[in-house]
Amino acid sequence: MNCRIILLWLFTNRLKGISECFSTIIRENYDGSRIEAENKLNRAEGVSDHIVPYWDQPFSQPYFDNTTKREYTTTVGQTAHLHCRVRNLGDRAVSWIRKRDLHILTVGIQTYTNDQRFMSLHTDGSDEWTLKITSSQTRDSGVYECQVSTEPKISQAFKLNVVVSKAKIIGNPELHIKSGSDINLTCVVLQTPDPPSFIYWYRGGDVINYSQRGGINVVTEKQTKTSRLLISRATPEDSGNYTCSPSSSDAASVLVHVLQGETPAAMQHSATVRIGTIDFTLLILFLCFVFVR
Ligand SMILES: *[C@@H]1O[C@H](CO)[C@@H](O)[C@H](O)[C@H]1NC(C)=O
Ligand SMILES: *[C@@H]1O[C@H](CO)[C@@H](O)[C@H](O)[C@H]1NC(C)=O
Ligand SMILES: *[C@@H]1O[C@H](CO)[C@@H](O)[C@H](O)[C@H]1NC(C)=O
Ligand SMILES: *[C@@H]1O[C@H](CO)[C@@H](O)[C@H](O)[C@H]1NC(C)=O
Repeated sequence: MNCRIILLWLFTNRLKGISECFSTIIRENYDGSRIEAENKLNRAEGVSDHIVPYWDQPFSQPYFDNTTKREYTTTVGQTAHLHCRVRNLGDRAVSWIRKRDLHILTVGIQTYTNDQRFMSLHTDGSDEWTLKITSSQTRDSGVYECQVSTEPKISQAFKLNVVVSKAKIIGNPELHIKSGSDINLTCVVLQTPDPPSFIYWYRGGDVINYSQRGGINVVTEKQTKTSRLLISRATPEDSGNYTCSPSSSDAASVLVHVLQGETPAAMQHSATVRIGTIDFTLLILFLCFVFVR
């Protein structure tokens, strides 16, 4: 049938729509041109007919390895690494974006921010793109996106928590101990994903020197993140402000009063005398790496 005849027929019958005519064209040209006609029809109907080139089709599209860790916790001052793994990357670029302000931190292995603490780590041939953040701050907490420059872009979100780690000395902030008994202080590091690499003990402003006086024992356990300071047969001269200071954590202190006899007055007198006669040259650094495994 000729289309013009149909149109005439449609016009005279005043019943059918123009789309029926298109359908007829398709039916009449049921060969290679059918698809084109269908596309034209779709366009006429406002349907987009984006033809996806074969290299952009799903089988060769980049995709994220969903098995990687997506949430990280670190302590203030530590270095954080966010690992993004992209398969089938091809020649596209991987960027790291800070979600909070949509700041582009890195593109490929280039850093795009003035904050040089951010860095992209990548080994040629690997599919891992790591965002490295040195000396993490609490303000670095938040979401970071690993983004691939496909059209449209694909991204994977990573959450970073930067926590302030604190030390705590178990018991009262002030201890009264009778002369001759032991000073036994236990320090625990709280809110830290990693064990501290060391824990220092101070009395006053100085690291405790255990060669200055016998009977001092320190046991630091990495696994339990604790350190125990034991000073046996305490004398009033051992009184003072004891501080436990782990690496990458806020310190904790306790005031220790060693009582000579029973009266607090005597204790205070002794403490004053001790502070007045303390020989600072006798204080050394010690115990940093005493670890029990
Ligand atoms: C990875 O996860 C995203 C979102 O959860 C999903 O859309 C995508 O299909 C997943 N990819 C694979 C390879 O499993
Ligand atoms: C020190 O105190 C802890 C508990 O805080 C206790 O387990 C430990 O046995 C004590 N050590 C000594 C030598 O008293
Ligand atoms: C004990 O020492 C620490 C660290 O030097 C200090 O922050 C704290 O204020 C001191 N405590 C007292 C009661 O002096
Ligand atoms: C620690 O004490 C010992 C013994 O009193 C002393 O010989 C040494 O010099 C002291 N070390 C420091 C660094 O003060």
